[in-house]
Amino acid sequence: MRKNPVVPYAIIALLGVLTVVVISVVGLGQRADIQQAEEGGEQTEQGAEEGQEGETAGGDAEAVFQSNCSACHGADLSGGAGPDLTAVGSKYSADEIAEIIQNGRGAMPPQSQVAGEELSALSQWLSEKQ
Ligand code: HEC
Repeated sequence: MRKNPVVPYAIIALLGVLTVVVISVVGLGQRADIQQAEEGGEQTEQGAEEGQEGETAGGDAEAVFQSNCSACHGADLSGGAGPDLTAVGSKYSADEIAEIIQNGRGAMPPQSQVAGEELSALSQWLSEKQ
């Protein structure tokens, strides 16, 4: 019986592909860790500046809301797929809102693309909706 010469090459190629997949999965995991660490750092810095920037942040916060939240919560905060946020400030503090944005809640996925200055401006702005 003649051996099929292609088979060993196919196995080697498959192993190569597997190795690449494993390496990129491990790499992605590490990148996520690094990103998290960086975001954590930004937020502590931001905390210190928050006091002075509270006023000017209003316009920015609304823009951040429109691009990240309005699809689910409505452009006028009146709700849609997500709940009405027009009086969210009477229910949660700015910190609690920031926590919901970062970690998500129930059917709301974490909005981790909103971080640092944007996150604190947006949470502050929403906490004033009472
Ligand atoms: C994919 C849709 C979606 C997006 C995008 C989204 N949310 Fe939500 N959000 C929801 C849903 C659904 C809930 C209700 C979650 C639950 O309690 O089960 C919710 C709940 C909330 C709550 C709590 C409301 C309450 O009365 O308990 C807050 C605050 C909130 N979202 C803020 C935001 C902010 C700020 C953004 C943008 C950074 C955002 N959400 C983006 C879907 C979304």
